[in-house]
Amino acid sequence: STNALLLGLAAYLIGSIPFGYLLARFWKGIDIRKFGSGNIGATNVWRTLGKGPGMVVLILDMLKGTAAVMLAKQLEYTDFAVLFSALLVMVGHSYPLWLGFKGGKIIATGAGAVLAIAPVPLLLSFLVWASTVGLTKYVSLGSILGAISLPLWVYAMDYNVNYLIFSVLVSSFAVYKHRSNIKRLWQGTEFKIGKKG
Ligand code: G3P
Repeated sequence: STNALLLGLAAYLIGSIPFGYLLARFWKGIDIRKFGSGNIGATNVWRTLGKGPGMVVLILDMLKGTAAVMLAKQLEYTDFAVLFSALLVMVGHSYPLWLGFKGGKIIATGAGAVLAIAPVPLLLSFLVWASTVGLTKYVSLGSILGAISLPLWVYAMDYNVNYLIFSVLVSSFAVYKHRSNIKRLWQGTEFKIGKKG
C-alpha cells in the first residue's frame, strides 16, 4: 500500500543517517572511511577511535533500526509494512543518500530492526556472534555466522513464511556486505579485535 511505501521511504532516510561517519568527523575530526577497514560501522569506529565512540555508534545505529520498525508498527501494523521498513532501514544504512551510497554492513542497524521484530531469534544470533568473536577475535566472522544462523532460529521458532523470507533476505544481505571481510578471512589478513592491523 501507499502507506507501506511511504514508511519504507522514511525508514530509508532514517537508515541513511551515517552516525559512524558523523561522529568520527565532528567529534574526532577524521574521515573514518580512510582508516582500518574503511567501514563506517561501530566495529571500525571502535578499532580506530576506541571503545567509547564505538559503543556510541553501536547504540545509535541499532536505534535507527529499532526506530524504523517501531514507526511502521505504530502507523501501519501489517507484516509487509513492518518487514519492508526493516529492510529499507538496512538499505539506507548500507547505501546512504549522503555518502555517495557507500555505507555500512547492516549488523548493528539490522540487529536493532530484528530486535523489534523477532527478539528471540535475534538473541540467539547474538549468542552465535558473541561466541564466535570470543573464540576467534574476528568480529566479521561473528557477524557472518550470526547472520547465517538467523533464518534457522526464525524457522525453529515457527514464525510465518513472511518472516522466514525476511530473515533469509537480511542474512544474505549481511553476508554480501561482508565480502571484503570474507576475502581477508580467506587470505588470513582480517583484523582481529584489540589490534589495529
Ligand atoms: O559489523 C561490521 C563487522 O562485522 C565488520 O566490520 O570494520 O571489521 O569490516 P569491519
